[in-house]
Amino acid sequence: MVESASQNLRGRITIATSQPIVFCKDIHLSAHIIDGRAAAERLRRRVAEHTAGLKPQGLIPGLAVVLVGEDPASQIYVGSKTRQATEAGIRHFDHRLPATTSTAELIALVRNLNANPEVHGILVQLPLPAGVDSAAVLATIDPEKDVDGFHAMNAGRLALGEPATVPCTPLGCLILIREVMSDMAGKRALVIGRSNIVGKPMAQLLLQNDCTVTIAHSKTRDLPALCAEAEILVAAVGRPRSIEGGWIRPGAVVIDVGINRIDDGSGKSKVVGDVDYATAVTRAGAITPVPGGVGPMTIACLLLNTVNAAIRQRLGTNAETLRI
Ligand code: GUN
Repeated sequence: MVESASQNLRGRITIATSQPIVFCKDIHLSAHIIDGRAAAERLRRRVAEHTAGLKPQGLIPGLAVVLVGEDPASQIYVGSKTRQATEAGIRHFDHRLPATTSTAELIALVRNLNANPEVHGILVQLPLPAGVDSAAVLATIDPEKDVDGFHAMNAGRLALGEPATVPCTPLGCLILIREVMSDMAGKRALVIGRSNIVGKPMAQLLLQNDCTVTIAHSKTRDLPALCAEAEILVAAVGRPRSIEGGWIRPGAVVIDVGINRIDDGSGKSKVVGDVDYATAVTRAGAITPVPGGVGPMTIACLLLNTVNAAIRQRLGTNAETLRI
């Protein structure tokens, strides 16, 4: 569908009409806006239906949420996670600890949660306070309960193409890409950012979907030239509006993972992505807005990972899980 829009840019006659393709005054096509809120709502509803179906078997998925310290953004994220978990029929176990909590205390808590059969998923909200050894805490989480998909076992399984719990943000990005591009085989995909949480797993998922994948990062030379080739572009840079619209290949699917708070010029703050949306929207075939794109998908995928972890732990690794 998105391809049809870009083909039309190159002068072909056919245009797909099942998407709202809008012509602007200056004859540029405007991108299809990928509605992450609606997609997340659909996924949450599926999770809730699935959870309700497990109840008669005596299975209530349980998610332990560990928040250390008083970071305001983390408090908001954790509040949203627990609220949405409840709405989806997932029981949550909250552990709010002071910023002075030691690595040893956190590891002891995680070991307790690993041993608790009512807890199927463990989420330790990041970032942890500076004095805590985050890697040691995350490595203690039972890989089967690692609903964030951050454990080396899950990262390794994903890299090997084996069944793995996939980190929530890249999983959400993949779902959004699939909304507008059912067959990714052979597509040139560019992931900008090489974090363990987004960039690397995103690249693995695109590779699994038969894309030709490039990972760009802070030392990459000539980023605009790479962007100009990319039919799928995932921006996870963490710098506001740093990907210029003019770099984007006409018709590309653009997924913006950035959540950057900036001054809106009047002393108030607003959230913008890593992509310069105003210029990108006139070149992309499809694009995620910020807010309302990738963000809502992350929590919906956490709920999905939690339900599937519960199914595997209670019913066995071969049990039917909820698929995307
Ligand atoms: N902090 C910001 N995003 C995340 C996430 O997806 N998982 C965890 N555990 N912490 C985060």
